Amino acid sequence: MAAKLWCFILFIVLIQANVFAYQYQVGNLQSWNIPTSADPKVYTNWPKKHTFKIGDSLLFLYPPSQDSVIQVTKESYNSCNLKNPILYMNNGNSLFNITSPGVVYFTSGVSGHCEKSQKLEISVYASDGSLPMPPASGPSGALADSAPSYPTVFGGIPSGPSKSSSSLLNVKTSVLSSWVIGVLICGLLGSKI
Ligand SMILES: *[C@@H]1O[C@H](CO)[C@@H](O)[C@H](O)[C@H]1NC(C)=O
Repeated sequence: MAAKLWCFILFIVLIQANVFAYQYQVGNLQSWNIPTSADPKVYTNWPKKHTFKIGDSLLFLYPPSQDSVIQVTKESYNSCNLKNPILYMNNGNSLFNITSPGVVYFTSGVSGHCEKSQKLEISVYASDGSLPMPPASGPSGALADSAPSYPTVFGGIPSGPSKSSSSLLNVKTSVLSSWVIGVLICGLLGSKI
């Protein structure tokens, strides 16, 4: 009986860990800035240590007089094009909410910073483990094709009711399946002891 109970408690803890939304402080840094010589690859290495999921958020901290954060397209990320960002944040305490799977690209809105590796690429996997890519488009007109679709995909504007309800549904189904698995395994374990 005790084993069954412990098993169940363990499962509840695992479910919580899986469902809770995390707020990540970007780079674990007090200041979003050009990487220092001590850690020149901080923005490349930091995302590799984490698994980002829908509901998590990214906190960029910086003195607002010195920096800013922009979310850009892949093309702009690669070429350090600061024009027409998808999202512009400059209050020094910028929270980006992850609302959909895919790859999100950030850099600094201050000219010259992107070239000095102040850029961040975050991959957000869907609950089925897939990583949706923005629609592929030819080399020319790539910007024109993909740019308009981003705001709706990544929700620069506060997420609408359809989005929040669908992510809520995902959470609910994953909790439900964890519970079912938990009950089955704990039940088996309990009956053998
Ligand atoms: C993310 O969510 C927080 C809290 O709900 C909100 O204050 C913030 O403005 C949101 N960020 C964006 C970029 O919409």
